[in-house]
Amino acid sequence: MTSTLTPTLEPAPAPMLRHSLSAPVAAQPRPVPDGPPVLEARDFRFSYGPREILHGINLNIRRKAVTAIIGPSGCGKSTFLRAINRMHDLEPKARYQGQILLDGRSIFGPACDLVELRKKVGMVFQRANPFPKSIYENVAYGPELNRLVPRRELPDLVERCLRQAALWDEVKDRLDTPATGLSGGQQQRLCIARALGNSPEILLMDEPCSALDPLATLKIEELLVELRQNYTIVIVTHNMQQAARASDFTGFFFKGDLVEFGDTADIFTRPAREETEAYITGRFG
Ligand SMILES: Nc1ncnc2c1ncn2[C@@H]1O[C@H](COP(=O)(O)OP(=O)(O)O)[C@@H](O)[C@H]1O
Ligand SMILES: [Mg+2]
Repeated sequence: MTSTLTPTLEPAPAPMLRHSLSAPVAAQPRPVPDGPPVLEARDFRFSYGPREILHGINLNIRRKAVTAIIGPSGCGKSTFLRAINRMHDLEPKARYQGQILLDGRSIFGPACDLVELRKKVGMVFQRANPFPKSIYENVAYGPELNRLVPRRELPDLVERCLRQAALWDEVKDRLDTPATGLSGGQQQRLCIARALGNSPEILLMDEPCSALDPLATLKIEELLVELRQNYTIVIVTHNMQQAARASDFTGFFFKGDLVEFGDTADIFTRPAREETEAYITGRFG
């Protein structure tokens, strides 16, 4: 896995928002299956060296729903997402306290197998990062390596994942051409298909659309709505309209705290906290 720990400059929220007076209109709420959360953060603290980045996050992620994480740059959204996949394991200065539970079990406990964790928790990054291989191999690589299906079933699996990622029709006639020949939006959907290849429970997406044009962005949003039927999705986004349209729940991070969490419709129409309102109406970012 490539290292993505270097802090990057991030784009400001969608410019139109800065001038709008009201929050984006939230999508109609839809019933979300009840039941225990798939993921729980319990007083989760995270530091790099002496600096505490996350100050005790308590958050439940519901199964088969889209949860959006919003908040200004530098407030710890990516750090939180990466912690869920234990991407800081190789960072000597990284320290955590508290817990993150996946299906009720600590992801930091000795019983947690890192390979298993990363199979259950797929990750999609801001910049599409396909392997320098063919379209087919990008999706087949993980399941083949992990022997998830018998070899003869790989083509079917690849097709299923590409269909789920709404890419099949665009690539079915050129599966053996290099993935790098695809457009940015197609590459991002390929990365989603690749993540699906490992049959994850959860997909973590860190600003997956910030490098994409509006049309490609819309395709990914439509895809989220499809995918939540079978997967749990946690998406970090700077795009308020996207959070409002495509998510069921929204958490607002600010300076390392989870300031507010709730149904997306509530967060965008009647936020309880002043900071949340200021952020979603574009008064700071
Ligand atoms: N590998 C790292 N080492 C030291 N500090 C880091 C590292 N990664 C992120 N940070 C710092 O942690 C804070 C939160 O960063 P990040 O989680 O990337 O915020 P966000 O995704 O909300 O923009 C920032 O101040 C950032 O500079
Ligand atoms: Mg980030």
